[in-house]
Amino acid sequence: MAPKWLKDAVFYEIYPQSFKDTNGDGIGDFNGIIEKLDYIKSLGCNALWINPCFDSPFKDAGYDVRDYKKVAPRYGTNNDLYRLFGEAHKKGIHVLLDLVPGHTSEEHEWFRQSQKAEKNEYTNRFIWTDFCFQGAKGLPYIGGESERSATYILNFFKCQPALNYGFLHPDEPWQLGIDHPDTIATREAMKDVMRFWLDHGCDGFRVDMAASLVKFDDEKKSGTSAIWKNVREMLDADYPEAAMVSEWSDPKLALRAGYHMDFYLNHPGGGYNSLMRDYQPAWWAGEEDKKDNSYFKKDADRDISRFLGEYMDWYEDTKEIGYISMLTCNHDTVRPRFNLEPDELKLAYAFLFTMPGVPYLYYGDEIGMRYLDLPTKEGGYFRTGSRTPMQWDESANLGFSDGCADSLYLPVDPAGDAPTVAGQEKDPYSLLNTVKALLALRHAQEDLQADAPFVPVCTEKGKPFVYQRGALLVAVNPAGTDVCAEVDADGRECLYKIGKAEAADGKLVMGPQSFVVLK
Ligand code: NOJ
Ligand code: CA
Repeated sequence: MAPKWLKDAVFYEIYPQSFKDTNGDGIGDFNGIIEKLDYIKSLGCNALWINPCFDSPFKDAGYDVRDYKKVAPRYGTNNDLYRLFGEAHKKGIHVLLDLVPGHTSEEHEWFRQSQKAEKNEYTNRFIWTDFCFQGAKGLPYIGGESERSATYILNFFKCQPALNYGFLHPDEPWQLGIDHPDTIATREAMKDVMRFWLDHGCDGFRVDMAASLVKFDDEKKSGTSAIWKNVREMLDADYPEAAMVSEWSDPKLALRAGYHMDFYLNHPGGGYNSLMRDYQPAWWAGEEDKKDNSYFKKDADRDISRFLGEYMDWYEDTKEIGYISMLTCNHDTVRPRFNLEPDELKLAYAFLFTMPGVPYLYYGDEIGMRYLDLPTKEGGYFRTGSRTPMQWDESANLGFSDGCADSLYLPVDPAGDAPTVAGQEKDPYSLLNTVKALLALRHAQEDLQADAPFVPVCTEKGKPFVYQRGALLVAVNPAGTDVCAEVDADGRECLYKIGKAEAADGKLVMGPQSFVVLK
């Protein structure tokens, strides 16, 4: 059973570097998050996911952890984070930290010990071959940097050596099985890290590269899944209120492996991309721009079946065991404002926030912050443009920091019309106020929350997309023209609407760029 609080949870993802700086050093901090908890609550978000905030050389924005139990001094102290847990709980907000179990930083003490020539407790904590000139069966590896005569396997960037959870079918002497005492020790070490934070008040984890633990040939992920099931047993026994969300995007596997939620990620050609990200800019593909055919683009040649084909298969298979998490964006993706205008975003969010499962809102997407064209920072590359400081108001640095502009972690949006929270709070039709209204509606209607059944009703091209959530009927029309569905909604009460929506004579007529929830 998933913790009950997930039924009505709406998450807010915070990239701590860029949320709110309270000491003028140009970088966001825990005190800044604490200061803004009321704002987060006012949005209708009642849970947080904070990107890695642990001690790190920051070659991958903190996904290269140097010490799992110590926070990075630039954000504050461990005590500040414990205080953040306490203050958030007082306001009914749960807090997930980011667990990076697949790799550490090359500066982690475990790795420093592991690379030594002399055998020690950490010799097998990472995956090493047994000779300085031996590669690793197609896996990326580094040689020439260690005292021991061996090469080691990477999990992501060069700075991120892979932790050793073993091989499903070891067939070389240097490959250990998943039940070898040393690979079990890796798993236990990660469980110890989880216990440490849970004991200090954290409410669970977003898990980085959750599918990456057991190296080949774990194609069906039975080895990796066995590890997560073991972790889940610990949680069920000792921390039944703790929640786990996986960066996996394969809910059939992830939710069966013990996760409560799995992210629906932006895989090229996938269902989620067809909704909001069906384009390919030249700078990404190296060719010509591809026309944006996202479902929520006003002038797209839209077809909701491209989303439903993948989603319904996942949803039907997993609705009894866990949640699929839809997101506006995350720190790895281009912001949705890159290709969608605010009026298009309103409808996209209206859809995301009325779907089953547990939704995630990335900081700044609630005001439609732009994706900026910036040089890479901390291993961000193209992702850097989605990691810029939160835009609070019209004051210096858009209210993010009192520091001087050139000390900021990243520059703020220089545009004269850069959206801000203060600006949008005043406008009843702003994206921000639309998000607030949608989330308030979700909290008020159990049928819009995680568990109520989702049934597509009208999916034909050229018509509104109509779906049922429990006893509610929801319809969306992203097009710039009137469309009509033969759906009997006569006499139903309108709970919320964007634009025009009229039900009469067994027909539902939806005006240009409209959305409605009917009871
Ligand atoms: C996924 C994280 O979301 C991303 O930001 C990071 O670079 C990689 N995993 C490596 O940890
Ligand atoms: Ca700071």
